[in-house]
Amino acid sequence: MTGENYALPTYRVDTRQSPPDVFVDLGSTDWSRVTWRDVGRPYRVERWAAEKREWEAEHGATMPVKESWIRFNRHFHELFTTDTVAAMSTTRAELVRAATHLDLHGVKETTRELLQLAIWNHVHRVEDAVWDPRGKRALFDGLDVKRPEILYLGAADGYEAMQLLAMYPGGHAVLVDYDDFCRTDRFGKFPEAYPFWGSGRIWHREHMAIDFEVADIRSLTYGREFDIVLSVGLVEHFPDEYKHEAFELHRRFLKPGGVAIITTPRDQIRGRAFYTIMADYMNYGYRELMRVEQLGLYAHEHGLRVRRAGYIKAHNGLICQPS
Ligand SMILES: C[S@@+](CC[C@H](N)C(=O)[O-])C[C@H]1O[C@@H](n2cnc3c(N)ncnc32)[C@H](O)[C@@H]1O
Repeated sequence: MTGENYALPTYRVDTRQSPPDVFVDLGSTDWSRVTWRDVGRPYRVERWAAEKREWEAEHGATMPVKESWIRFNRHFHELFTTDTVAAMSTTRAELVRAATHLDLHGVKETTRELLQLAIWNHVHRVEDAVWDPRGKRALFDGLDVKRPEILYLGAADGYEAMQLLAMYPGGHAVLVDYDDFCRTDRFGKFPEAYPFWGSGRIWHREHMAIDFEVADIRSLTYGREFDIVLSVGLVEHFPDEYKHEAFELHRRFLKPGGVAIITTPRDQIRGRAFYTIMADYMNYGYRELMRVEQLGLYAHEHGLRVRRAGYIKAHNGLICQPS
Protein backbone atom coordinates (compact mmCIF):
# COMPACT_ATOMS: atom_id res chain seq x y z
CA MET A 1 0.00 0.00 0.00
CA THR A 2 1.33 3.45 -0.85
CA GLY A 3 0.60 6.82 0.67
CA GLU A 4 1.19 8.47 4.03
CA ASN A 5 -0.61 8.46 7.36
CA TYR A 6 0.46 10.75 10.23
CA ALA A 7 -0.96 13.37 12.60
CA LEU A 8 -0.10 17.10 12.53
CA PRO A 9 -1.14 19.44 15.40
CA THR A 10 -4.59 20.20 13.94
CA TYR A 11 -5.36 17.36 11.52
CA ARG A 12 -4.27 14.00 10.15
CA VAL A 13 -2.73 13.43 6.73
CA ASP A 14 -3.93 10.19 5.16
CA THR A 15 -3.15 9.60 1.51
CA ARG A 16 -3.14 5.79 1.74
CA GLN A 17 -4.91 4.20 -1.19
CA SER A 18 -7.46 1.42 -1.45
CA PRO A 19 -7.60 -0.22 1.97
CA PRO A 20 -10.49 -2.70 2.22
CA ASP A 21 -12.61 -1.27 5.02
CA VAL A 22 -13.50 2.25 3.99
CA PHE A 23 -17.04 2.01 2.61
CA VAL A 24 -19.68 -0.48 3.70
CA ASP A 25 -21.91 -0.91 0.69
CA LEU A 26 -25.64 -1.56 1.07
CA GLY A 27 -26.20 -0.85 -2.59
CA SER A 28 -28.34 -3.88 -3.38
CA THR A 29 -31.29 -2.68 -1.24
CA ASP A 30 -34.64 -2.50 -3.06
CA TRP A 31 -35.86 0.80 -1.59
CA SER A 32 -39.40 0.38 -2.89
CA ARG A 33 -39.82 -2.51 -0.42
CA VAL A 34 -38.44 -0.64 2.62
CA THR A 35 -40.98 1.00 4.96
CA TRP A 36 -40.69 3.38 7.93
CA ARG A 37 -42.10 0.60 10.07
CA ASP A 38 -39.05 -1.52 9.11
CA VAL A 39 -36.41 1.13 9.67
CA GLY A 40 -37.84 3.37 12.44
CA ARG A 41 -37.52 7.17 12.56
CA PRO A 42 -34.25 9.07 12.90
CA TYR A 43 -32.89 9.99 16.35
CA ARG A 44 -33.24 13.67 17.23
CA VAL A 45 -30.40 15.36 19.09
CA GLU A 46 -31.94 17.55 21.79
CA ARG A 47 -29.04 18.47 24.01
CA TRP A 48 -28.55 22.14 23.11
CA ALA A 49 -25.48 24.39 23.34
CA ALA A 50 -25.50 26.58 26.47
CA GLU A 51 -25.22 29.67 24.22
CA LYS A 52 -28.42 28.71 22.38
CA ARG A 53 -30.28 28.11 25.65
CA GLU A 54 -29.12 31.46 27.02
CA TRP A 55 -30.06 33.31 23.79
CA GLU A 56 -33.51 31.74 23.81
CA ALA A 57 -34.11 32.53 27.50
CA GLU A 58 -33.11 36.14 26.87
CA HIS A 59 -35.18 36.58 23.68
CA GLY A 60 -38.14 34.39 24.64
CA ALA A 61 -37.98 32.78 21.17
CA THR A 62 -36.29 29.93 19.32
CA MET A 63 -32.94 30.91 17.83
CA PRO A 64 -33.46 31.62 14.09
CA VAL A 65 -31.98 28.93 11.84
CA LYS A 66 -29.42 31.19 10.13
CA GLU A 67 -28.26 32.58 13.47
CA SER A 68 -27.80 29.01 14.69
CA TRP A 69 -25.55 28.25 11.70
CA ILE A 70 -23.52 31.41 12.24
CA ARG A 71 -22.81 30.31 15.82
CA PHE A 72 -22.21 26.67 14.85
CA ASN A 73 -19.64 27.59 12.19
CA ARG A 74 -17.59 29.79 14.54
CA HIS A 75 -17.52 27.17 17.29
CA PHE A 76 -16.85 24.24 14.98
CA HIS A 77 -14.07 26.15 13.20
CA GLU A 78 -12.41 26.83 16.56
CA LEU A 79 -11.95 23.06 16.95
CA PHE A 80 -10.27 22.74 13.53
CA THR A 81 -7.73 25.43 14.46
CA THR A 82 -6.90 24.10 17.94
CA ASP A 83 -3.60 22.37 18.57
CA THR A 84 -5.33 19.78 20.74
CA VAL A 85 -2.25 18.25 22.36
CA ALA A 86 -0.94 21.66 23.46
CA ALA A 87 -4.44 22.74 24.59
CA MET A 88 -4.88 19.55 26.63
CA SER A 89 -1.59 20.15 28.37
CA THR A 90 -2.57 23.75 29.28
CA THR A 91 -6.01 22.62 30.46
CA ARG A 92 -4.51 19.82 32.57
CA ALA A 93 -2.31 22.40 34.35
CA GLU A 94 -5.42 24.57 34.94
CA LEU A 95 -7.23 21.57 36.39
CA VAL A 96 -4.40 20.90 38.83
CA ARG A 97 -4.36 24.58 39.84
CA ALA A 98 -8.14 24.61 40.39
CA ALA A 99 -7.95 21.41 42.45
CA THR A 100 -5.10 22.77 44.54
CA HIS A 101 -7.18 25.86 45.35
CA LEU A 102 -10.28 23.75 46.06
CA ASP A 103 -12.03 25.69 43.29
CA LEU A 104 -14.85 23.23 42.57
CA HIS A 105 -16.37 25.29 39.76
CA GLY A 106 -12.92 25.52 38.11
CA VAL A 107 -12.41 21.77 38.47
CA LYS A 108 -15.78 21.07 36.85
CA GLU A 109 -15.20 23.50 33.94
CA THR A 110 -11.65 22.37 33.16
CA THR A 111 -12.62 18.70 33.40
CA ARG A 112 -15.39 19.29 30.85
CA GLU A 113 -13.00 21.19 28.59
CA LEU A 114 -10.39 18.44 28.87
CA LEU A 115 -12.97 15.80 27.95
CA GLN A 116 -14.10 17.82 24.91
CA LEU A 117 -10.50 18.33 23.75
CA ALA A 118 -9.69 14.63 24.22
CA ILE A 119 -12.76 13.62 22.21
CA TRP A 120 -12.05 16.06 19.40
CA ASN A 121 -8.43 14.94 19.30
CA HIS A 122 -9.51 11.32 19.00
CA VAL A 123 -12.29 11.87 16.47
CA HIS A 124 -10.46 14.29 14.17
CA ARG A 125 -6.71 13.82 14.67
CA VAL A 126 -6.56 10.11 15.50
CA GLU A 127 -9.55 8.49 13.77
CA ASP A 128 -9.88 11.17 11.09
CA ALA A 129 -13.62 10.53 11.17
CA VAL A 130 -14.70 14.08 10.23
CA TRP A 131 -12.83 14.58 6.96
CA ASP A 132 -12.38 10.79 6.49
CA PRO A 133 -10.45 11.05 3.20
CA ARG A 134 -10.30 7.31 2.55
CA GLY A 135 -14.02 6.88 3.20
CA LYS A 136 -14.90 9.87 1.02
CA ARG A 137 -12.65 8.62 -1.79
CA ALA A 138 -14.32 5.20 -1.61
CA LEU A 139 -17.79 6.77 -1.63
CA PHE A 140 -16.97 9.09 -4.56
CA ASP A 141 -15.14 6.41 -6.56
CA GLY A 142 -16.32 5.30 -9.99
CA LEU A 143 -18.55 8.24 -10.95
CA ASP A 144 -19.13 8.57 -14.67
CA VAL A 145 -18.03 12.22 -14.87
CA LYS A 146 -15.22 14.10 -16.61
CA ARG A 147 -14.15 17.66 -15.73
CA PRO A 148 -17.31 17.93 -13.62
CA GLU A 149 -19.21 21.06 -12.73
CA ILE A 150 -19.92 20.60 -9.01
CA LEU A 151 -22.46 22.40 -6.83
CA TYR A 152 -21.92 22.03 -3.06
CA LEU A 153 -25.04 22.95 -1.05
CA GLY A 154 -24.21 24.24 2.47
CA ALA A 155 -20.49 23.93 1.75
CA ALA A 156 -18.93 25.16 5.04
CA ASP A 157 -15.20 24.36 4.49
CA GLY A 158 -15.80 22.80 1.07
CA TYR A 159 -13.69 19.73 1.92
CA GLU A 160 -15.67 17.21 -0.14
CA ALA A 161 -15.68 19.38 -3.28
CA MET A 162 -11.88 19.52 -3.07
CA GLN A 163 -11.72 15.74 -2.71
CA LEU A 164 -13.96 15.36 -5.78
CA LEU A 165 -11.87 17.82 -7.81
CA ALA A 166 -8.74 15.82 -6.95
CA MET A 167 -10.39 12.59 -8.12
CA TYR A 168 -12.01 14.11 -11.23
CA PRO A 169 -9.50 16.75 -12.32
CA GLY A 170 -10.19 19.67 -14.60
CA GLY A 171 -13.56 20.32 -13.04
CA HIS A 172 -14.95 23.38 -11.31
CA ALA A 173 -16.86 23.71 -8.05
CA VAL A 174 -19.33 26.28 -6.76
CA LEU A 175 -19.48 26.25 -2.97
CA VAL A 176 -22.67 27.80 -1.60
CA ASP A 177 -23.17 28.78 2.02
CA TYR A 178 -25.15 31.68 3.46
CA ASP A 179 -22.69 32.23 6.30
CA ASP A 180 -19.95 34.55 4.99
CA PHE A 181 -17.60 33.22 7.70
CA CYS A 182 -17.44 29.99 5.66
CA ARG A 183 -16.07 31.96 2.68
CA THR A 184 -13.58 33.95 4.75
CA ASP A 185 -12.50 31.35 7.31
CA ARG A 186 -13.85 27.82 7.10
CA PHE A 187 -12.99 27.55 3.38
CA GLY A 188 -10.89 30.73 3.17
CA LYS A 189 -8.40 29.50 5.79
CA PHE A 190 -8.60 25.79 5.01
CA PRO A 191 -4.99 24.49 5.42
CA GLU A 192 -3.20 25.17 2.13
CA ALA A 193 -0.80 22.29 2.77
CA TYR A 194 -3.56 19.68 3.18
CA PRO A 195 -2.92 16.92 0.60
CA PHE A 196 -5.87 15.55 -1.36
CA TRP A 197 -5.09 12.28 -3.11
CA GLY A 198 -6.77 11.69 -6.45
CA SER A 199 -6.09 10.53 -10.02
CA GLY A 200 -2.55 9.43 -9.25
CA ARG A 201 -1.20 12.51 -7.48
CA ILE A 202 -1.50 14.93 -4.58
CA TRP A 203 -3.55 18.11 -5.01
CA HIS A 204 -3.80 21.20 -2.85
CA ARG A 205 -6.51 23.83 -2.56
CA GLU A 206 -4.58 26.23 -4.76
CA HIS A 207 -4.68 23.76 -7.69
CA MET A 208 -8.44 23.77 -7.82
CA ALA A 209 -11.00 25.90 -9.65
CA ILE A 210 -13.44 26.92 -6.92
CA ASP A 211 -15.89 29.78 -6.54
CA PHE A 212 -17.59 30.56 -3.26
CA GLU A 213 -21.09 32.00 -3.40
CA VAL A 214 -22.54 33.44 -0.22
CA ALA A 215 -26.25 32.75 -0.74
CA ASP A 216 -29.26 30.91 0.54
CA ILE A 217 -29.39 27.56 -1.28
CA ARG A 218 -33.19 27.95 -1.50
CA SER A 219 -32.87 31.01 -3.73
CA LEU A 220 -30.29 29.81 -6.26
CA THR A 221 -31.22 30.52 -9.87
CA TYR A 222 -28.95 28.07 -11.71
CA GLY A 223 -30.34 25.94 -14.52
CA ARG A 224 -29.64 22.25 -15.05
CA GLU A 225 -25.89 22.83 -15.29
CA PHE A 226 -24.14 20.60 -12.76
CA ASP A 227 -22.73 17.09 -13.13
CA ILE A 228 -22.63 16.66 -9.36
CA VAL A 229 -24.81 18.26 -6.68
CA LEU A 230 -23.48 17.49 -3.24
CA SER A 231 -24.35 18.04 0.41
CA VAL A 232 -22.64 16.79 3.56
CA GLY A 233 -24.55 17.09 6.80
CA LEU A 234 -27.39 19.20 5.44
CA VAL A 235 -30.63 17.25 4.92
CA GLU A 236 -30.77 16.01 8.53
CA HIS A 237 -31.25 19.64 9.60
CA PHE A 238 -34.56 19.86 7.71
CA PRO A 239 -37.48 18.53 9.81
CA ASP A 240 -39.75 16.14 7.90
CA GLU A 241 -42.18 18.87 6.76
CA TYR A 242 -39.25 20.53 4.91
CA LYS A 243 -37.42 17.39 3.70
CA HIS A 244 -38.95 17.68 0.21
CA GLU A 245 -37.23 21.08 -0.19
CA ALA A 246 -33.86 19.64 0.79
CA PHE A 247 -34.08 16.71 -1.64
CA GLU A 248 -35.56 18.82 -4.45
CA LEU A 249 -32.47 21.07 -4.29
CA HIS A 250 -30.34 18.01 -5.12
CA ARG A 251 -32.37 17.39 -8.30
CA ARG A 252 -33.12 20.87 -9.59
CA PHE A 253 -29.64 21.84 -10.81
CA LEU A 254 -28.49 18.49 -12.23
CA LYS A 255 -27.69 18.03 -15.91
CA PRO A 256 -29.35 14.96 -17.45
CA GLY A 257 -27.24 12.02 -16.26
CA GLY A 258 -25.80 13.99 -13.34
CA VAL A 259 -25.53 12.58 -9.82
CA ALA A 260 -26.54 13.81 -6.37
CA ILE A 261 -24.30 12.89 -3.46
CA ILE A 262 -25.87 13.13 -0.01
CA THR A 263 -24.27 12.28 3.31
CA THR A 264 -25.55 12.61 6.90
CA PRO A 265 -24.07 11.67 10.29
CA ARG A 266 -24.68 8.06 11.33
CA ASP A 267 -26.84 7.10 14.27
CA GLN A 268 -24.37 5.12 16.37
CA ILE A 269 -23.80 5.07 20.14
CA ARG A 270 -20.53 6.93 19.69
CA GLY A 271 -22.30 9.52 17.48
CA ARG A 272 -24.96 10.15 20.12
CA ALA A 273 -22.21 10.47 22.76
CA PHE A 274 -20.26 12.90 20.54
CA TYR A 275 -23.23 15.24 20.02
CA THR A 276 -24.03 15.09 23.76
CA ILE A 277 -20.56 15.87 25.08
CA MET A 278 -19.77 18.35 22.27
CA ALA A 279 -23.18 20.08 22.49
CA ASP A 280 -21.67 23.53 23.15
CA TYR A 281 -19.76 23.31 19.86
CA MET A 282 -22.30 21.53 17.71
CA ASN A 283 -25.94 21.85 18.75
CA TYR A 284 -27.48 25.17 17.76
CA GLY A 285 -30.39 23.89 15.71
CA TYR A 286 -32.51 20.94 14.62
CA ARG A 287 -30.40 17.82 14.00
CA GLU A 288 -31.19 14.17 13.30
CA LEU A 289 -28.85 11.20 13.37
CA MET A 290 -29.90 8.40 11.04
CA ARG A 291 -29.00 5.01 9.67
CA VAL A 292 -28.34 4.62 5.98
CA GLU A 293 -31.62 2.72 5.58
CA GLN A 294 -33.47 5.81 6.82
CA LEU A 295 -31.51 8.19 4.57
CA GLY A 296 -32.09 5.89 1.59
CA LEU A 297 -35.82 5.75 2.29
CA TYR A 298 -36.03 9.56 2.50
CA ALA A 299 -34.24 9.84 -0.85
CA HIS A 300 -36.46 7.19 -2.45
CA GLU A 301 -39.62 8.90 -1.15
CA HIS A 302 -38.44 12.26 -2.43
CA GLY A 303 -37.87 11.33 -6.05
CA LEU A 304 -34.29 10.06 -6.12
CA ARG A 305 -33.11 6.70 -7.40
CA VAL A 306 -30.44 5.40 -5.04
CA ARG A 307 -27.54 4.06 -7.12
CA ARG A 308 -25.19 3.44 -4.22
CA ALA A 309 -25.75 3.48 -0.47
CA GLY A 310 -23.49 2.73 2.44
CA TYR A 311 -21.55 4.24 5.27
CA ILE A 312 -18.10 5.50 6.04
CA LYS A 313 -16.65 6.31 9.49
CA ALA A 314 -19.13 8.87 10.79
CA HIS A 315 -21.50 9.43 7.85
CA ASN A 316 -24.02 7.60 5.69
CA GLY A 317 -23.55 8.20 1.99
CA LEU A 318 -25.80 7.97 -1.05
CA ILE A 319 -25.10 8.37 -4.75
CA CYS A 320 -28.43 9.13 -6.43
CA GLN A 321 -30.07 10.19 -9.68
CA PRO A 322 -33.50 11.68 -10.24
CA SER A 323 -36.04 8.85 -10.61
C1 LIG B 1 -23.53 21.08 9.20
S1 LIG B 1 -22.81 22.17 8.02
C2 LIG B 1 -22.29 20.98 6.91
C3 LIG B 1 -21.23 20.16 7.47
C4 LIG B 1 -19.94 20.65 6.99
N1 LIG B 1 -19.28 19.64 6.22
C5 LIG B 1 -19.08 21.16 8.13
O1 LIG B 1 -17.91 20.87 8.12
O2 LIG B 1 -19.58 21.89 8.97
C6 LIG B 1 -24.09 22.88 7.12
C7 LIG B 1 -23.73 24.19 6.42
O3 LIG B 1 -24.85 24.55 5.62
C8 LIG B 1 -25.05 25.94 5.71
N2 LIG B 1 -26.48 26.17 5.43
C9 LIG B 1 -27.54 25.69 6.13
N3 LIG B 1 -28.70 26.11 5.57
C10 LIG B 1 -28.36 26.87 4.49
C11 LIG B 1 -29.11 27.59 3.51
N4 LIG B 1 -30.44 27.60 3.54
N5 LIG B 1 -28.43 28.24 2.55
C12 LIG B 1 -27.07 28.24 2.53
N6 LIG B 1 -26.31 27.59 3.43
C13 LIG B 1 -26.94 26.89 4.40
C14 LIG B 1 -24.62 26.31 7.10
O4 LIG B 1 -24.23 27.67 7.19
C15 LIG B 1 -23.45 25.34 7.34
O5 LIG B 1 -22.21 25.94 7.03
